[in-house]
Amino acid sequence: MTDRTLYIVTCGAPLASRVKDGVRAARDRGWNPYVIPTDAARPWLEGQDLADTSVITGNRAPGEPKRTPPADAVAVVPTTFNTLNAWANGNANTYPLTILCAALGSHTPIAAVPFAKHDLAGHPAWLASIAVLRYAGVTVVNPRDGSTAWLEPLTSGTGDEVARRFRWEWVLRQLD
Ligand SMILES: Cc1cc2nc3c(=O)[nH]c(=O)nc-3n(C[C@H](O)[C@H](O)[C@H](O)COP(=O)(O)O)c2cc1C
Repeated sequence: MTDRTLYIVTCGAPLASRVKDGVRAARDRGWNPYVIPTDAARPWLEGQDLADTSVITGNRAPGEPKRTPPADAVAVVPTTFNTLNAWANGNANTYPLTILCAALGSHTPIAAVPFAKHDLAGHPAWLASIAVLRYAGVTVVNPRDGSTAWLEPLTSGTGDEVARRFRWEWVLRQLD
């Protein structure tokens, strides 16, 4: 057991199918991971055995104790078009977005893996949101090769393949 807490926020795109691998890789590197899925990510979690993992969904009730220790770092894997833009705009109307906005505001180390095809990534908000997040200190990781220097949209139909080839160490090494 470790006292380093990692939040893994996961959104509704094919790379959410690799969350279990992320939990395993994080533990191997000495993290205590908590998985925080958006509602749209949950279908991808169903096929994964997360019985030994804290999966935190929805807001806690008023008066209910906090369900997680404070995060030492946050991994946002994958980051959808929807969540990336909402986060950069400061929208906190879901539990995962509240976590992300608070992490940005408290200067917690964050690595995000944007995951969107050309059509969505062609929307002008996409590049603006990535610029805002980078300016605020988020490390943006390319899902295809782990690069933090460049990011390209996914070609339609390649999401599952990119997810299969993705390596969690690309993200975790940014947070160690
Ligand atoms: C099979 C499938 C694949 C999807 N792939 C992507 C994707 O790669 N990138 C993306 O931004 N949205 C993708 N979406 C759409 C998002 O799931 C949708 O915009 C959702 O509202 C995102 O919610 P979230 O940001 O709260 O997770 C996909 C949806 C489905 C059903």
